[in-house]
Amino acid sequence: MQHIAIIMDGNGRWAKERGLPRAEGHRAGAESVREVMEACKGLDVKYLTLYAFSSENWNRPEAEIEALMTLLERFLDEKMEELDKQNVRLQAIGQLDRLPASTRERLERIQEHTKDNDSMTLVLALSYGAREEITAAARSIAEAAVSGKISPEDITCDLFAKHLYTADIPDPDLLIRTSGEMRISNFLLWQISYSEIVIVKKMWPDFRQGDLIAAVEEYKSRDRRFGAL
Ligand code: FPP
Repeated sequence: MQHIAIIMDGNGRWAKERGLPRAEGHRAGAESVREVMEACKGLDVKYLTLYAFSSENWNRPEAEIEALMTLLERFLDEKMEELDKQNVRLQAIGQLDRLPASTRERLERIQEHTKDNDSMTLVLALSYGAREEITAAARSIAEAAVSGKISPEDITCDLFAKHLYTADIPDPDLLIRTSGEMRISNFLLWQISYSEIVIVKKMWPDFRQGDLIAAVEEYKSRDRRFGAL
């Protein structure tokens, strides 16, 4: 198992069920992030990608966006020294230029600081949308073609993949979504072509190490054929 990607869904509903503000659900969700990172280390997973903020999340109320950015910054401030010690590399993917400067600066600093770490890569999808990613890739390929660097015949799946944010990251083996919803929600559309999908009923703040291990067991019981017999 090289790569697990997770759509962390259900923070809002978790909070609502308890009569709490949505931001409390996100705060509890940040604890689950710590849990899955622990579990991934134990499972020797090389890449963990978390859908932490989608392009569509910009349409949420200002206060909720602010709460999410604050949580993220706190997570980066608190966790990163420890991650570095554990030889974990951080990589952010998405339209990062849309993030507040304080968030972006932290991300840039930590990415630079951890770039040679190689036990695991934590990929945070932030201001991320797969259609936007694919469109940006198409644009940069078109630019390369117009300037004569490549010709249309050079455009293969491999070349296309190299123009995505995930150019150096293997495709996810397993995609997990919590809260029981059966949707992809504009996440890694290109990269999950052959990923196994496991839907977990629990809301993200209730997701624990044991739930990740159970999802991996489910993955192992699947017969992956990549379209062949
Ligand atoms: C989806 O729940 C979750 C999010 C939009 C944000 C995920 C963020 C975190 C778990 C916390 C911070 C992240 C890190 C990496 C420390 P939702 O609000 O859409 O829930 P709902 O569908 O029940 O409303």
